Amino acid sequence: MAKGALRHKDHFHGSDLELIEEIYHIRKEDITSFSANINPLGVSGNLKASISEHIDAIQTYPDRDYRQLRQVIADYAGTRPDNVIVGNGSTELISLIIQTCSPKKALILGPSYSEYEREVSLKGGSTIYYRLKEEKDFQMDIADFCAHLNDNLDLLVLCNPNNPTSTAISRREMRTILDACLEHGIFVMVDETYVEFTDPEEKISSVPLTNDYTNLAVLRGTSKFFAAPGLRLGYAITGNADLIRQIHTLQNPWTISSLAEIAGRLMFRDTAYIQETRELIKSERARVYNILKTWKNVKVYEPKANFILVRILTEKTDADELFDLCIRSGMMIRNCSTFPFLSSKYIRFCFMSPEDNNRLLALLESRLESAE
Ligand SMILES: Cc1ncc(COP(=O)(O)O)c(C=O)c1O
Repeated sequence: MAKGALRHKDHFHGSDLELIEEIYHIRKEDITSFSANINPLGVSGNLKASISEHIDAIQTYPDRDYRQLRQVIADYAGTRPDNVIVGNGSTELISLIIQTCSPKKALILGPSYSEYEREVSLKGGSTIYYRLKEEKDFQMDIADFCAHLNDNLDLLVLCNPNNPTSTAISRREMRTILDACLEHGIFVMVDETYVEFTDPEEKISSVPLTNDYTNLAVLRGTSKFFAAPGLRLGYAITGNADLIRQIHTLQNPWTISSLAEIAGRLMFRDTAYIQETRELIKSERARVYNILKTWKNVKVYEPKANFILVRILTEKTDADELFDLCIRSGMMIRNCSTFPFLSSKYIRFCFMSPEDNNRLLALLESRLESAE
Protein backbone atom coordinates (compact mmCIF):
# COMPACT_ATOMS: atom_id res chain seq x y z
CA MET A 1 0.00 0.00 0.00
CA ALA A 2 1.36 3.43 -0.90
CA LYS A 3 2.72 5.08 2.20
CA GLY A 4 1.47 8.63 2.49
CA ALA A 5 -1.29 8.02 -0.05
CA LEU A 6 -3.62 10.00 2.18
CA ARG A 7 -1.60 13.13 1.57
CA HIS A 8 -1.61 13.01 -2.21
CA LYS A 9 -3.41 15.83 -3.91
CA ASP A 10 -4.62 13.92 -6.93
CA HIS A 11 -8.29 13.74 -7.65
CA PHE A 12 -9.45 10.86 -9.72
CA HIS A 13 -11.89 10.77 -12.57
CA GLY A 14 -13.99 7.59 -12.73
CA SER A 15 -11.81 6.36 -15.56
CA ASP A 16 -8.47 6.81 -13.80
CA LEU A 17 -8.05 3.17 -12.80
CA GLU A 18 -4.45 2.98 -14.10
CA LEU A 19 -3.47 5.91 -11.88
CA ILE A 20 -5.08 4.21 -8.89
CA GLU A 21 -3.16 1.03 -9.69
CA GLU A 22 0.08 3.00 -9.66
CA ILE A 23 -0.55 4.96 -6.46
CA TYR A 24 -2.37 2.38 -4.34
CA HIS A 25 -0.93 -0.82 -5.82
CA ILE A 26 -4.41 -2.28 -6.25
CA ARG A 27 -5.00 -4.12 -9.52
CA LYS A 28 -7.65 -2.34 -11.57
CA GLU A 29 -9.52 -5.64 -11.99
CA ASP A 30 -9.97 -5.65 -8.21
CA ILE A 31 -11.58 -2.21 -8.06
CA THR A 32 -15.34 -1.69 -8.15
CA SER A 33 -15.86 1.74 -9.64
CA PHE A 34 -18.63 3.63 -7.91
CA SER A 35 -17.14 6.68 -9.55
CA ALA A 36 -17.56 6.11 -13.32
CA ASN A 37 -21.40 6.09 -13.27
CA ILE A 38 -21.48 3.03 -15.52
CA ASN A 39 -24.29 0.44 -15.72
CA PRO A 40 -23.34 -2.42 -13.33
CA LEU A 41 -24.83 -5.05 -15.68
CA GLY A 42 -21.88 -4.57 -18.03
CA VAL A 43 -22.12 -4.81 -21.80
CA SER A 44 -25.46 -5.82 -23.41
CA GLY A 45 -25.89 -9.59 -23.81
CA ASN A 46 -26.94 -9.18 -27.47
CA LEU A 47 -23.76 -7.32 -28.21
CA LYS A 48 -21.49 -9.78 -26.40
CA ALA A 49 -23.08 -12.79 -28.06
CA SER A 50 -22.71 -11.61 -31.63
CA ILE A 51 -20.09 -8.87 -32.04
CA SER A 52 -17.33 -11.38 -32.82
CA GLU A 53 -19.33 -12.63 -35.84
CA HIS A 54 -18.95 -9.16 -37.31
CA ILE A 55 -15.19 -8.88 -37.11
CA ASP A 56 -14.83 -8.82 -40.91
CA ALA A 57 -16.60 -5.46 -40.90
CA ILE A 58 -13.26 -3.79 -40.17
CA GLN A 59 -12.11 -4.80 -43.66
CA THR A 60 -14.28 -2.02 -45.11
CA TYR A 61 -14.91 1.62 -44.30
CA PRO A 62 -18.16 2.24 -42.46
CA ASP A 63 -21.00 3.99 -44.33
CA ARG A 64 -19.89 7.61 -44.33
CA ASP A 65 -23.43 8.73 -43.52
CA TYR A 66 -24.09 5.98 -40.96
CA ARG A 67 -27.63 5.57 -42.35
CA GLN A 68 -28.52 2.28 -40.65
CA LEU A 69 -27.06 3.34 -37.32
CA ARG A 70 -28.90 6.67 -37.39
CA GLN A 71 -32.16 4.84 -38.15
CA VAL A 72 -31.67 2.50 -35.16
CA ILE A 73 -30.84 5.47 -32.88
CA ALA A 74 -33.87 7.38 -34.18
CA ASP A 75 -36.14 4.41 -33.37
CA TYR A 76 -34.57 4.06 -29.92
CA ALA A 77 -34.71 7.75 -29.00
CA GLY A 78 -38.05 8.57 -30.64
CA THR A 79 -36.97 10.93 -33.42
CA ARG A 80 -36.26 10.97 -37.18
CA PRO A 81 -32.92 9.76 -38.59
CA ASP A 82 -32.44 13.16 -40.31
CA ASN A 83 -32.25 14.72 -36.84
CA VAL A 84 -29.47 12.38 -35.62
CA ILE A 85 -25.72 13.10 -35.80
CA VAL A 86 -23.32 10.41 -34.60
CA GLY A 87 -19.96 11.07 -33.00
CA ASN A 88 -16.92 9.57 -31.30
CA GLY A 89 -18.51 9.58 -27.85
CA SER A 90 -20.63 12.51 -26.72
CA THR A 91 -17.28 14.23 -26.08
CA GLU A 92 -16.72 14.73 -29.83
CA LEU A 93 -20.21 16.18 -30.20
CA ILE A 94 -19.81 18.54 -27.21
CA SER A 95 -16.71 19.82 -28.97
CA LEU A 96 -18.32 20.07 -32.43
CA ILE A 97 -21.45 21.83 -31.20
CA ILE A 98 -19.42 24.35 -29.20
CA GLN A 99 -17.09 24.90 -32.18
CA THR A 100 -20.11 25.48 -34.40
CA CYS A 101 -21.80 27.90 -31.99
CA SER A 102 -18.46 29.58 -31.21
CA PRO A 103 -19.96 31.29 -28.15
CA LYS A 104 -18.48 34.52 -26.81
CA LYS A 105 -20.32 33.97 -23.56
CA ALA A 106 -21.75 30.67 -22.33
CA LEU A 107 -23.85 29.94 -19.26
CA ILE A 108 -23.31 26.70 -17.40
CA LEU A 109 -24.75 25.28 -14.19
CA GLY A 110 -22.48 25.05 -11.19
CA PRO A 111 -21.70 22.45 -10.07
CA SER A 112 -21.74 20.51 -13.33
CA TYR A 113 -19.57 18.44 -15.66
CA SER A 114 -16.32 20.28 -16.45
CA GLU A 115 -15.82 19.54 -20.15
CA TYR A 116 -18.17 22.27 -21.40
CA GLU A 117 -16.13 25.07 -19.89
CA ARG A 118 -12.90 23.67 -21.33
CA GLU A 119 -14.37 23.55 -24.84
CA VAL A 120 -15.81 27.06 -24.60
CA SER A 121 -12.46 28.47 -23.50
CA LEU A 122 -10.61 26.53 -26.26
CA LYS A 123 -12.79 28.46 -28.73
CA GLY A 124 -11.83 31.73 -27.00
CA GLY A 125 -15.16 32.23 -25.23
CA SER A 126 -15.85 32.83 -21.56
CA THR A 127 -18.13 30.92 -19.21
CA ILE A 128 -20.29 32.13 -16.41
CA TYR A 129 -22.00 29.92 -13.87
CA TYR A 130 -25.54 29.82 -12.62
CA ARG A 131 -25.10 28.49 -9.12
CA LEU A 132 -27.44 25.74 -7.98
CA LYS A 133 -28.11 26.45 -4.34
CA GLU A 134 -27.41 23.86 -1.68
CA GLU A 135 -30.18 25.35 0.48
CA LYS A 136 -32.58 24.40 -2.33
CA ASP A 137 -31.11 20.91 -2.54
CA PHE A 138 -29.43 21.92 -5.83
CA GLN A 139 -32.87 22.09 -7.51
CA MET A 140 -33.12 24.77 -10.16
CA ASP A 141 -35.52 27.65 -9.48
CA ILE A 142 -36.81 28.07 -13.05
CA ALA A 143 -38.18 31.62 -12.66
CA ASP A 144 -34.97 32.83 -11.03
CA PHE A 145 -32.89 31.06 -13.67
CA CYS A 146 -34.85 32.63 -16.56
CA ALA A 147 -34.42 36.06 -14.95
CA HIS A 148 -30.63 35.58 -15.30
CA LEU A 149 -30.81 35.04 -19.09
CA ASN A 150 -29.88 38.01 -21.27
CA ASP A 151 -28.88 39.05 -24.81
CA ASN A 152 -25.14 38.87 -24.03
CA LEU A 153 -25.29 35.09 -23.73
CA ASP A 154 -25.08 32.93 -26.85
CA LEU A 155 -24.94 29.42 -25.41
CA LEU A 156 -26.56 27.65 -22.47
CA VAL A 157 -25.35 24.18 -21.49
CA LEU A 158 -27.54 22.07 -19.22
CA CYS A 159 -26.55 18.63 -18.04
CA ASN A 160 -29.86 16.85 -17.42
CA PRO A 161 -29.88 14.96 -15.10
CA ASN A 162 -27.00 16.97 -13.77
CA ASN A 163 -23.65 15.46 -12.88
CA PRO A 164 -22.79 15.51 -9.92
CA THR A 165 -26.04 16.58 -8.21
CA SER A 166 -28.32 13.91 -9.82
CA THR A 167 -31.08 16.55 -9.95
CA ALA A 168 -33.16 17.02 -13.11
CA ILE A 169 -35.23 19.57 -15.00
CA SER A 170 -38.58 18.27 -16.31
CA ARG A 171 -39.60 18.60 -19.97
CA ARG A 172 -42.25 21.13 -18.99
CA GLU A 173 -39.65 23.29 -17.21
CA MET A 174 -37.30 22.91 -20.16
CA ARG A 175 -39.96 24.42 -22.43
CA THR A 176 -40.05 27.52 -20.22
CA ILE A 177 -36.26 27.77 -20.42
CA LEU A 178 -36.21 27.25 -24.21
CA ASP A 179 -38.87 29.94 -24.73
CA ALA A 180 -36.83 32.40 -22.67
CA CYS A 181 -33.66 31.45 -24.57
CA LEU A 182 -35.40 32.00 -27.93
CA GLU A 183 -36.24 35.55 -26.85
CA HIS A 184 -32.59 36.24 -26.07
CA GLY A 185 -31.10 34.40 -29.08
CA ILE A 186 -29.44 31.74 -26.91
CA PHE A 187 -28.69 28.25 -28.25
CA VAL A 188 -29.26 25.43 -25.74
CA MET A 189 -27.22 22.23 -25.53
CA VAL A 190 -28.72 19.61 -23.21
CA ASP A 191 -26.38 16.78 -22.20
CA GLU A 192 -28.59 13.74 -21.54
CA THR A 193 -25.76 11.29 -20.83
CA TYR A 194 -27.69 10.01 -17.78
CA VAL A 195 -31.30 10.45 -18.89
CA GLU A 196 -31.99 6.80 -19.72
CA PHE A 197 -31.47 5.91 -16.06
CA THR A 198 -34.34 8.20 -15.00
CA ASP A 199 -37.89 7.03 -14.48
CA PRO A 200 -39.65 7.46 -17.88
CA GLU A 201 -42.77 8.58 -16.03
CA GLU A 202 -40.93 11.68 -14.88
CA LYS A 203 -40.69 12.87 -18.51
CA ILE A 204 -37.23 14.38 -18.30
CA SER A 205 -35.85 13.89 -21.81
CA SER A 206 -35.94 16.91 -24.12
CA VAL A 207 -35.77 14.83 -27.32
CA PRO A 208 -39.49 15.48 -28.16
CA LEU A 209 -38.78 19.23 -27.89
CA THR A 210 -36.35 19.08 -30.82
CA ASN A 211 -39.48 19.02 -33.05
CA ASP A 212 -40.55 22.41 -31.70
CA TYR A 213 -37.33 24.30 -30.98
CA THR A 214 -34.52 24.98 -33.45
CA ASN A 215 -32.34 26.48 -30.68
CA LEU A 216 -31.89 23.04 -29.10
CA ALA A 217 -29.47 20.10 -29.44
CA VAL A 218 -29.68 17.06 -27.16
CA LEU A 219 -26.58 14.94 -26.57
CA ARG A 220 -26.47 11.29 -25.59
CA GLY A 221 -23.86 8.55 -25.36
CA THR A 222 -23.43 4.83 -24.85
CA SER A 223 -20.63 5.01 -22.26
CA LYS A 224 -22.83 4.99 -19.16
CA PHE A 225 -26.21 3.37 -19.83
CA PHE A 226 -24.81 0.75 -22.23
CA ALA A 227 -21.60 0.32 -20.20
CA ALA A 228 -19.45 0.88 -23.29
CA PRO A 229 -17.07 3.82 -22.67
CA GLY A 230 -14.32 2.14 -24.69
CA LEU A 231 -16.55 1.96 -27.77
CA ARG A 232 -16.64 5.78 -28.12
CA LEU A 233 -20.13 6.08 -29.59
CA GLY A 234 -22.35 9.09 -28.94
CA TYR A 235 -25.07 10.98 -30.77
CA ALA A 236 -26.82 14.31 -30.90
CA ILE A 237 -30.44 15.03 -31.79
CA THR A 238 -31.50 18.38 -33.17
CA GLY A 239 -34.21 19.79 -35.42
CA ASN A 240 -31.80 22.48 -36.63
CA ALA A 241 -30.82 21.49 -40.19
CA ASP A 242 -28.22 24.30 -40.42
CA LEU A 243 -26.43 23.03 -37.34
CA ILE A 244 -26.36 19.51 -38.78
CA ARG A 245 -24.89 20.80 -42.05
CA GLN A 246 -22.22 22.83 -40.24
CA ILE A 247 -21.25 19.90 -38.04
CA HIS A 248 -20.89 17.66 -41.08
CA THR A 249 -18.55 20.22 -42.64
CA LEU A 250 -16.36 20.26 -39.54
CA GLN A 251 -16.43 16.58 -38.58
CA ASN A 252 -13.73 14.24 -39.88
CA PRO A 253 -15.09 11.34 -41.93
CA TRP A 254 -15.48 7.91 -40.31
CA THR A 255 -14.99 9.00 -36.69
CA ILE A 256 -17.07 5.98 -35.66
CA SER A 257 -15.47 2.63 -36.48
CA SER A 258 -17.30 -0.15 -38.34
CA LEU A 259 -17.36 -2.20 -35.14
CA ALA A 260 -18.82 0.64 -33.06
CA GLU A 261 -21.46 1.12 -35.74
CA ILE A 262 -22.45 -2.55 -35.56
CA ALA A 263 -22.28 -2.56 -31.75
CA GLY A 264 -24.69 0.38 -31.69
CA ARG A 265 -27.14 -1.40 -33.94
CA LEU A 266 -27.07 -4.45 -31.63
CA MET A 267 -27.37 -2.74 -28.26
CA PHE A 268 -30.03 -0.14 -28.96
CA ARG A 269 -32.33 -3.06 -29.88
CA ASP A 270 -31.55 -5.13 -26.76
CA THR A 271 -34.86 -4.39 -25.06
CA ALA A 272 -34.44 -7.05 -22.32
CA TYR A 273 -31.12 -5.49 -21.23
CA ILE A 274 -32.59 -1.98 -21.34
CA GLN A 275 -35.53 -3.06 -19.20
CA GLU A 276 -33.35 -4.94 -16.71
CA THR A 277 -31.06 -1.92 -16.32
CA ARG A 278 -34.00 0.43 -15.70
CA GLU A 279 -35.49 -1.87 -13.05
CA LEU A 280 -32.20 -2.45 -11.24
CA ILE A 281 -31.32 1.23 -11.08
CA LYS A 282 -34.83 2.28 -10.08
CA SER A 283 -34.91 -0.09 -7.12
CA GLU A 284 -31.32 0.51 -5.96
CA ARG A 285 -31.76 4.27 -6.27
CA ALA A 286 -34.78 4.21 -3.96
CA ARG A 287 -33.22 1.68 -1.57
CA VAL A 288 -29.85 3.42 -1.16
CA TYR A 289 -31.46 6.86 -0.89
CA ASN A 290 -33.84 5.66 1.83
CA ILE A 291 -30.99 4.12 3.82
CA LEU A 292 -28.81 7.24 3.58
CA LYS A 293 -31.71 9.44 4.66
CA THR A 294 -31.67 7.72 8.06
CA TRP A 295 -27.99 8.56 8.73
CA LYS A 296 -27.45 11.53 10.97
CA ASN A 297 -24.01 12.60 9.69
CA VAL A 298 -24.87 13.04 6.02
CA LYS A 299 -27.30 15.01 3.90
CA VAL A 300 -28.48 13.44 0.64
CA TYR A 301 -30.20 15.01 -2.33
CA GLU A 302 -32.97 13.06 -4.03
CA PRO A 303 -31.29 11.31 -7.00
CA LYS A 304 -32.92 11.13 -10.42
CA ALA A 305 -30.01 9.44 -12.23
CA ASN A 306 -27.84 6.39 -11.43
CA PHE A 307 -25.69 8.18 -8.84
CA ILE A 308 -26.15 10.18 -5.65
CA LEU A 309 -24.48 13.24 -4.16
CA VAL A 310 -23.79 13.06 -0.44
CA ARG A 311 -22.81 15.91 1.87
CA ILE A 312 -20.72 15.02 4.91
CA LEU A 313 -22.07 16.83 7.96
CA THR A 314 -19.56 15.68 10.56
CA GLU A 315 -16.18 17.26 11.33
CA LYS A 316 -14.58 13.89 11.94
CA THR A 317 -14.07 13.02 8.27
CA ASP A 318 -14.06 14.42 4.74
CA ALA A 319 -14.08 13.33 1.09
CA ASP A 320 -10.28 12.81 0.95
CA GLU A 321 -10.37 10.44 3.87
CA LEU A 322 -13.47 8.57 2.70
CA PHE A 323 -11.99 8.16 -0.78
CA ASP A 324 -8.86 6.68 0.76
CA LEU A 325 -10.82 4.40 3.10
CA CYS A 326 -12.95 3.06 0.25
CA ILE A 327 -10.18 2.58 -2.29
CA ARG A 328 -8.21 0.51 0.22
CA SER A 329 -11.20 -1.84 0.24
CA GLY A 330 -11.27 -1.92 -3.56
CA MET A 331 -14.16 0.55 -3.93
CA MET A 332 -13.66 3.82 -5.76
CA ILE A 333 -15.98 6.73 -4.98
CA ARG A 334 -15.82 10.28 -6.36
CA ASN A 335 -14.29 12.97 -4.20
CA CYS A 336 -16.29 16.03 -5.31
CA SER A 337 -13.94 18.73 -4.02
CA THR A 338 -12.83 19.65 -7.56
CA PHE A 339 -16.36 20.52 -8.74
CA PRO A 340 -17.08 24.26 -8.72
CA PHE A 341 -19.17 25.27 -5.67
CA LEU A 342 -18.62 21.95 -3.88
CA SER A 343 -15.93 21.17 -1.32
CA SER A 344 -14.16 18.33 0.43
CA LYS A 345 -17.43 17.74 2.26
CA TYR A 346 -19.06 16.11 -0.76
CA ILE A 347 -18.79 12.66 -2.28
CA ARG A 348 -20.68 11.06 -5.18
CA PHE A 349 -21.18 7.41 -5.96
CA CYS A 350 -23.21 5.42 -8.48
CA PHE A 351 -25.52 2.46 -7.89
CA MET A 352 -23.93 -0.90 -8.59
CA SER A 353 -25.28 -4.38 -7.76
CA PRO A 354 -27.23 -4.67 -4.47
CA GLU A 355 -24.33 -6.65 -2.93
CA ASP A 356 -21.72 -4.06 -3.94
CA ASN A 357 -23.94 -1.21 -2.76
CA ASN A 358 -24.37 -2.93 0.61
CA ARG A 359 -20.61 -3.37 0.91
CA LEU A 360 -20.02 0.33 0.24
CA LEU A 361 -22.80 1.46 2.58
CA ALA A 362 -21.47 -0.75 5.39
CA LEU A 363 -17.98 0.73 5.06
CA LEU A 364 -19.19 4.33 4.86
CA GLU A 365 -21.52 3.79 7.81
CA SER A 366 -18.70 2.36 9.92
CA ARG A 367 -16.75 5.60 9.51
CA LEU A 368 -19.53 8.17 9.32
CA GLU A 369 -22.04 6.93 11.82
CA SER A 370 -19.86 5.31 14.49
CA ALA A 371 -19.61 6.98 17.89
CA GLU A 372 -16.80 9.58 18.19
C1 LIG B 1 -22.26 14.55 -18.14
C2 LIG B 1 -21.30 13.84 -19.01
N1 LIG B 1 -21.28 14.10 -20.33
C3 LIG B 1 -20.41 13.48 -21.16
C4 LIG B 1 -19.49 12.56 -20.67
C5 LIG B 1 -18.55 11.91 -21.64
O1 LIG B 1 -19.21 10.88 -22.29
P1 LIG B 1 -18.67 10.06 -23.56
O2 LIG B 1 -17.92 8.88 -23.04
O3 LIG B 1 -19.94 9.68 -24.30
O4 LIG B 1 -17.81 10.95 -24.39
C6 LIG B 1 -19.47 12.25 -19.31
C7 LIG B 1 -18.47 11.34 -18.75
O5 LIG B 1 -18.20 11.20 -17.59
C8 LIG B 1 -20.40 12.91 -18.45
O6 LIG B 1 -20.44 12.66 -17.13
